[in-house]
Amino acid sequence: MTEASAPGKIILCGEHAVVYRRPAIALPLADLRARVVVEPGDAGSGITIDAPDLERRWTLASAPDHPLSALIVSVLDHLSRDAQSDVPAPALQIRITSTIPIAEGMGSGAAVATALVRALAAHLGHELPAEVVSTLVYTSERRFHGTPSGIDNTVIAFERPIWFVRRPATDNPAIENLIEPVTIAAPFRLLIGDTGVRSLTHLPVGEVRQRWQAETAHYESLFDAIAASVIRARAALAQGDIRALGALLNENQALLEQMGVSSDDLDRLVAAARAAAALGAKLSGAGWGGVMIALVMPADGERVAAALAEAGAARMLETAVERQVNV
Ligand code: MEV
Repeated sequence: MTEASAPGKIILCGEHAVVYRRPAIALPLADLRARVVVEPGDAGSGITIDAPDLERRWTLASAPDHPLSALIVSVLDHLSRDAQSDVPAPALQIRITSTIPIAEGMGSGAAVATALVRALAAHLGHELPAEVVSTLVYTSERRFHGTPSGIDNTVIAFERPIWFVRRPATDNPAIENLIEPVTIAAPFRLLIGDTGVRSLTHLPVGEVRQRWQAETAHYESLFDAIAASVIRARAALAQGDIRALGALLNENQALLEQMGVSSDDLDRLVAAARAAAALGAKLSGAGWGGVMIALVMPADGERVAAALAEAGAARMLETAVERQVNV
């Protein structure tokens, strides 16, 4: 039996603009994880995938077009190319579980895919570097979700805070993209408030694309303004200036609202967090639902959490972001 896992993620700032090659900062959520267990199956039974959280069980042969079936095939192809010989499709039982809420902006799909790639490769005797895992997952996401920037699969595969700038499409996006560690001089806390409204990433991303096509100059200037605030957020993190970071998260939220990707539920949670002493609050991920984040001082955490509950948050999580000094 082989087991592997992968974390959820949160975008600190820069979502949407990152699709248009502006920088963004993302953080892994180590406590929320997708897990995949691979065991040998009965000889000749092929590959069976059991995903109780999705209430689905299928065989590779019966649903070859399922995104995870297609991903399994790409992993086997990749390992065959690596080994320069065919890795025969073995008989396997694959079980997928996850504690990451689905379609809430916390990377559940990319985390499941990442854990699957790791577990399958490990079961077949290979340890793949993070860039390769990230590329396999990105290729699968691109096939099924249009134009992802690649930030989700990257932060999940590398499992550390990242500065990410998408580079022109190539066959090897993990290498071509700019991926840098982020210095975090002072630890901070984020409360994650869930609207309880599921939002499929490709819908708001598709809407922004249409608006960008219709009003290119306006959207380019919004993306530039987001880039400027993300650059300042990186500097605030490096200086340990948590108050400045909070103000920049608020600035980022105002720009996301102008882009049309917030929602009444998100706006209500953001306003409640700010009124209850959060240093800054914004939606996180694609918007139109999913989650928002609030930057809080440890002493104010309970007050902000109570305000979020009062404002209708369906669920709340807290994550402590540790100091990271990169040399
Ligand atoms: C989703 O986590 C972040 C978006 O910027 C989409 C993407 O980067 O692919 C909204």
